[in-house]
Amino acid sequence: MKRNSITIVAAISVLVFALSRCKKEDCPPPDSWSPTYYTLKVPAGFPEPNIPADNPMTYEGIELGHRLFFDKRFSSDNTLSCASCHHQSFFFADLPDRKVSTGVNGAQGKRNAMVIFNLAWQEHFFWDGRAMSLEEQALMPIEDPTELNNTLPVVVARLEADSLYPSLFKAAFGDEAITPERIGKAIAQFERTIISSNSKFDRVERLKIEQYTPEEQLGRDMFFTDFTPSGIRGGDCFHCHGSVETSYLMGAFGRDNQFKNNGLNATHVNDKGRADVTNLASDEGKFKVGTVRNMEWSFPYMHNGSIATIADLIEFYNSGVHEFSPNIDPNMSVNGFVDKNWTQVEKGHLEAFLMTLTDDSLRFDPAFQDPFEK
Ligand code: HEC
Ligand code: HEC
Repeated sequence: MKRNSITIVAAISVLVFALSRCKKEDCPPPDSWSPTYYTLKVPAGFPEPNIPADNPMTYEGIELGHRLFFDKRFSSDNTLSCASCHHQSFFFADLPDRKVSTGVNGAQGKRNAMVIFNLAWQEHFFWDGRAMSLEEQALMPIEDPTELNNTLPVVVARLEADSLYPSLFKAAFGDEAITPERIGKAIAQFERTIISSNSKFDRVERLKIEQYTPEEQLGRDMFFTDFTPSGIRGGDCFHCHGSVETSYLMGAFGRDNQFKNNGLNATHVNDKGRADVTNLASDEGKFKVGTVRNMEWSFPYMHNGSIATIADLIEFYNSGVHEFSPNIDPNMSVNGFVDKNWTQVEKGHLEAFLMTLTDDSLRFDPAFQDPFEK
């Protein structure tokens, strides 16, 4: 008994000593810090999201991340924020006239800016998957010379000089320290709240509270069926863009299976895609399988924005115009790239189904508007 209490007293004194000696950056948050934890509203039928244990979501963190996402002080010349290339009205993709993104001083990037939603369920980010978390991803555009063209120390100094940010960081993380790590964490928290789960497709397939029109149903069957030359004239889309079970993504199918070569280019001299990360010749020309959710508004399509309209996209998958790349996915190469020869009516069915994937509730959700314009 006595020995136990001595041990406890000793343990407590060691703890008190340790706490009183901690360096500023390792000190535990003060007792007065009590953030409001945020429970991500997981839509019925969606799996558990990937939220890193060291970045729990809080209302304060999300609010901070929201502000950072729209803050033009991120760019070297104070003209661009994340939202300058990721517009809510286009599901956080870029403006339709930008095949590739335009950074500070009009610098042209080499890729089309991606949509941002349902990223809480993903694990690889960018067309080549080079970022392994949203926290890591969020810092990369800041230092990219073709994007925000800035440095992290400059951004930190600007935020430190602001009248509001120190208190927002304190509310989100326990003290006023502004660090790149916290910037990444706050933006990631905000991005995880951007969810698209209320399209007609969701209401029919997951929630079972609506029905497709006959045309949409026929298009749906094309999406989810193999092409066979003398039989069903399906589109094979589901091989890469997911099944009903993975409908929360409708792209980037599965964990190990997220990068494919859909035959967009014959050679990959301009952009090796996934091979930039893995250095494997077999990954040349593979890109993250883009989501088909909300594609009505995310044109132009593909990593290089080379497909302008939905009609062109359907024609791309119809005609087998795909240039031969040695890495082309077998699911694109049915019978040696024969033309699927879809009729106009069939193309219309596929388009009708693809339109059911639009979720206007996200597009116009006031929760994601520019906080600087309020
Ligand atoms: C100049 C335009 C531009 C700016 C500014 C910009 N982005 Fe992007 N974003 C892009 C482009 C282009 C890609 C695809 C790049 C690639 O694959 O190499 C992308 C990709 C992404 C992705 C990956 C999505 C996915 O599905 O993998 C996320 C997340 C993202 N951006 C968030 C941000 C955040 C956060 C900021 C601000 C810190 C930001 N972006 C600033 C153009 C921009
Ligand atoms: C072999 C796998 C595969 C098949 C089959 C496939 N896709 Fe894709 N899809 C991809 C890949 C990979 C990308 C991204 C390619 C790139 O950017 O270079 C993509 C991109 C897209 C995009 C553009 C996404 C964006 O953000 O720009 C749409 C829309 C699309 N596919 C629709 C379809 C439809 C409809 C079908 C069926 C007719 C289909 N896909 C069949 C792999 C596939």
